[in-house]
Formats: sequence, structure tokens, C-alpha cells
Amino acid sequence: MKTELLFLNEQTAQKGAELIKSGEIVAMPTETVYGLGANAFNEAAVKKIFEAKGRPSDNPLIVHVASKEQICTVASEIPPAAQLLIEKFMPGPITVVLPKHKEIPYSVTGGLETVGVRIPAHKQAQMFLEACGCPVCAPSANSSGKPSPTTAMHVFDDLNGKIPLILDGGSCQGGIESTVISLCGETPLLLRPGLITVEMLEAVLGKINVHPAILKDECVDKAASPGMKYKHYSPKARVLIVDASIDCACSFYDFAAKNGKKPIILWNDDQRAQVGSRNFEALIENGDMLSASKNLFALLRKADDQGFDTVFITAVNQKDTGLSIMNRMLRAAAFTVLTEKTQAEQLKSILGI
Ligand code: TXA
Ligand code: MG
Repeated sequence: MKTELLFLNEQTAQKGAELIKSGEIVAMPTETVYGLGANAFNEAAVKKIFEAKGRPSDNPLIVHVASKEQICTVASEIPPAAQLLIEKFMPGPITVVLPKHKEIPYSVTGGLETVGVRIPAHKQAQMFLEACGCPVCAPSANSSGKPSPTTAMHVFDDLNGKIPLILDGGSCQGGIESTVISLCGETPLLLRPGLITVEMLEAVLGKINVHPAILKDECVDKAASPGMKYKHYSPKARVLIVDASIDCACSFYDFAAKNGKKPIILWNDDQRAQVGSRNFEALIENGDMLSASKNLFALLRKADDQGFDTVFITAVNQKDTGLSIMNRMLRAAAFTVLTEKTQAEQLKSILGI
């Protein structure tokens, strides 16, 4: 199949919408990451998403709608806590998990009685969703297991030849996927942290529960959030989080380089000078954690493209936005964190040298 890549405007939104209405799948931008969309009521189209991505079928998809009014076509009930979040944060980078509407097929929800719903804040995405006229279920538009795509070219790299159309809406400002919160239990439960932070959620809802798998490599029960049990966001390179000084990261780097690896350091831009001539990219610019979320997946993909096989990445404080960044980094690193106590022997075995 030939994959077209078109700038998203009124005309191409119509073209994409026609494909969606005819049961095809289309990649679209959002303010978080690119999604791979299908008409959420069309099971055959939904199946194409799982095939194109190589995604396990028990991992549910998020349903995207253009307006708050449309949420009741997707969910059977909107509890008061969900209503508060919808009023406060939608459109925006948040997904609420609600009891599903009977018309939403189980292929969308991975067999669950619940459904994740979100309204993207991306203007062109809204125009596309309006043109579609139906709820559009869309996971991130990457091959399953790879970092989520934050540009149309990332989508092309993963899905060229597998989908008919990629709508290009520029690079995603958020850079990491939406916050996912379930409102189906007694207390709201955070399933995936994102740019709508725990602090922001608690300011509206009071105390919420945070799923333990967010920062730990735990076996996850299927009912909570199937997505968490899969390996995520991993580039080909071995990613290692460094919870220590930049000097310490440089000595790990030198050890890897001496042993035949091709390493790179992803750190704060204000510590670039200490890195000298070693390979370096700025993860955090001007101390702004939002720059880290915007840059993270793009830098992991770039490291692969440039042939780096070992990525040393700075740990971040797990407050506010930092929680969601650490959550993505821990998965990319398969939960490996180096500290100043990490010995050469340990590093050797981690790097397989
Ligand atoms: O920002 C985003 O959310 C992007 C853009 C495209 O909207 N989408 C995205 O989708 O990240 P995906 O499929 O890569 O991640 C969806 C996550 C998964 O971890 C999944 O398990 C969880 O949301 N999820 C979806 N529906 C759920 C449900 N009914 N119950 C629990 N978790 C659910
Ligand atoms: Mg994904």
C-alpha cells in the first residue's frame, strides 16, 4: 500500500475523513503524540489498527471526540468526578476512563466494560475529528513497543506501506501521551501520568489513587490498565537512567566507549560544558520540564537513527510533570537506574560487555 503524507488543512481533513468513513485508518496529529485513527464503531477498521501496529488485541484504544457533547455517544455514564475533569481540562492532554456505551465494540476496549475518552486540544486534529463526524479510536501511531511518534516523519518511519494516509500537523507540543485516569471505581485512579499532573488532578478531585505500576516494574492486573503490562517506548539502543551527577554519567559513558559501545548522554543543556566532546543532546532546556517531555521520544528515536547503542539519560525529580517523564524513561530503560554506587562490574553486565 502506498502511504500518502499530506499537510493537514481543511481539504486534506476531508480526504482523511472520507477514508475513515470508508473503514480505512488514518494517522493524525494531536497535542500529545500522533495517533492512528479508525471509526470507533467499525470493528473491521479497528482491527486494521491492531494489524498495522502489531499491537496485542487486549490493549484498549482511546476514543477521540470533537466535543464534550459527543462523550455520551461513547460512554454510558459520566460520573460527577468525570464531569469536573471534563469541564476543567478538556480539550486537553487527558483521557478519562468511563463505563462504555453499548455501541462501542469490545475490540476497541480490549474486552473491558470501560472506555477511555479524550478531546485533543490540537486545532487541526479537532477539524479532522469534526469532518469525520464519528468518534475516532486511536492509539499512538508507532509500531507497538517503539517510542510514540511526535512528528509525521516518525509515523512514516514506522508505518510506511501499512496505512493509506498520514496527516501532518507539525511536531507535537506535548511530546508524551495523555494522562489516563479511571473514574469507574470509588476513588479516581491514575493509570498513566501525563501533562495533566497528579497535583492538577488533586486540586479538582481531592485525593486520588496512583497506580503502583507507574514507577515500578510490577505485574499489572488486566482490569486496571492493560497497556501498563507491555514493554513501551523503547528504542533499539540500551537506555540507562543515571540518578547521579553529570560527572558520574561521563565516567559511565567513557567506560562504555572504551568497551566498544557508541554512547550518548541526554541531560540538562546547562551542563553541556561538563560533557566536553562526548556525544550529547539537551533533554531539558532552560530548566523547563515541559521541554523534556517534548524532547524525550524524539531524542530516543534520533539516537537510534544516528546509530547510538547506549543512551545515558538524566533522572528527573518525580514531582509535577517529572512523574510522567520518569514513567516513560523507566519503561524505555526497562527500569534500569544507575547511581554513583553502580560498580564497573555491574555496568559491564548491564551493557553485555
Ligand atoms: O495522548 C494519547 O493518549 C495518545 C493520542 C494519540 O491520543 N494516545 C495513546 O494511546 O497514547 P495508546 O493506545 O498508545 O495508549 C492508551 C493507554 C494504554 O495504556 C491503555 O491501556 C489505556 O490507555 N487505556 C485505554 N482504554 C482503557 C480502559 N478502558 N481502561 C484502562 N486503560 C485504558
Ligand atoms: Mg502507545
